Amino acid sequence: MHDLNDRVAVVTGAASGIGRGIARAFAAKGCHVAVADVDVAGAEEIARELEGRGVRSLAVQCDVTELAAVERASFATSVEAETDSGPVVRTEPSLG
Ligand SMILES: NC(=O)c1ccc[n+]([C@@H]2O[C@H](COP(=O)([O-])OP(=O)(O)OC[C@H]3O[C@@H](n4cnc5c(N)ncnc54)[C@H](O)[C@@H]3O)[C@@H](O)[C@H]2O)c1
Repeated sequence: MHDLNDRVAVVTGAASGIGRGIARAFAAKGCHVAVADVDVAGAEEIARELEGRGVRSLAVQCDVTELAAVERASFATSVEAETDSGPVVRTEPSLG
């Protein structure tokens, strides 16, 4: 697998379930993780947990079905700016 240390992952639907698991997996590989979800409380909870594991994390409230909301969130840009990191790795599990 590629070296993901210090890269940035953007995980949508990350407040629970598969997305939360993916966020933890990226953090375990040393990624900083932007967690986006309609459930901002859940997103903030997992972001705090990941910060406790020694990576940077940013919680963003975002409904991925709303283009305007995704554009407003601009989470990838925000994380890249905050972390001065290289290219972003995005993962977007399907949402039921
Ligand atoms: N859990 C499984 O074993 C399993 C197996 C096969 C398929 N799936 C499918 O995978 C998907 C995710 O499953 P899960 O178990 O992680 O579900 P989940 O409900 O635990 O997690 C989905 C997350 O997506 C968020 N979300 C929903 N709509 C959103 C939107 N418009 N914008 C942003 N975030 C949004 C929710 O708030 C939640 O945090 C579902 O479509 C499910 O049917 C799950």
